Amino acid sequence: MSQSLQVDPAKLAASKVAIALVQDGMRLGLGTGSTASIMVRELAARVQAEGLSLRCAATSKATADLAVELGLRVETLDQIGWLDMTIDGADEVDPDLHLIKGGGAAHLREKVVAAASDRMVVIADPGKVVETLGAFPLPVEVLAFGFETTRTLIRRALDHLDLGGRDILQRLKGSDPLITDEGNYILDLHMQDIPDPAALARALSSIPGVVEHGLFLGMCDLAIIGRSDGSVVELARDADIDADMLAHEGE
Ligand code: A5P
Repeated sequence: MSQSLQVDPAKLAASKVAIALVQDGMRLGLGTGSTASIMVRELAARVQAEGLSLRCAATSKATADLAVELGLRVETLDQIGWLDMTIDGADEVDPDLHLIKGGGAAHLREKVVAAASDRMVVIADPGKVVETLGAFPLPVEVLAFGFETTRTLIRRALDHLDLGGRDILQRLKGSDPLITDEGNYILDLHMQDIPDPAALARALSSIPGVVEHGLFLGMCDLAIIGRSDGSVVELARDADIDADMLAHEGE
């Protein structure tokens, strides 16, 4: 296939296994990020080789542009209505297959698309597998309107959960605020660790200016972790993850 020779072998391995799950006639959600873009290229190559008929909904403008350029049939989520499967990357995956997403500022659309899918499959490299979420800064998409007030309310919510003192930093693009596909800002919560993801998710969701946080709890059905030697480890929910082994593989 026509990919650069620099493709990460772990991400490629995970993508190939995920694409093997695709069947003719499926309605697919396409994720966002470097791993998802490898997956989209693999998908397009398979569609071209086998003449599959698929309907795809993208989780970002970037993914939609890439998919269209590669000849995939991209429609809006509402045109398709419901999806058989979404394949997406992640920033962190824990043993319960809870995720942190949004490193690419696309977690709002990613969550909407995943929620409209029978199955969410995550593809990742071993560095994404953790025992406890939170080392990766948690992205929170917030309204631009009153976003300093929203930051204050988030800080109070963290204090209330005994998680005070964490940095809450606005994500920038160059020296300007990063604007998401939906026209909002991102605040990155430098949590270090998140002992109770469900409690934090509830607290963040109750703040009016929060549009969506990057905790994906109970949404991922299967995580495919590619390794640099081309092998993969498939993790179903509640599987016993040797996170330490995975995290250090290939480093
Ligand atoms: C996009 O907002 C994210 O949720 C991505 O899925 C996540 O950041 C993984 O991206 P990479 O595959 O580039 O690591």
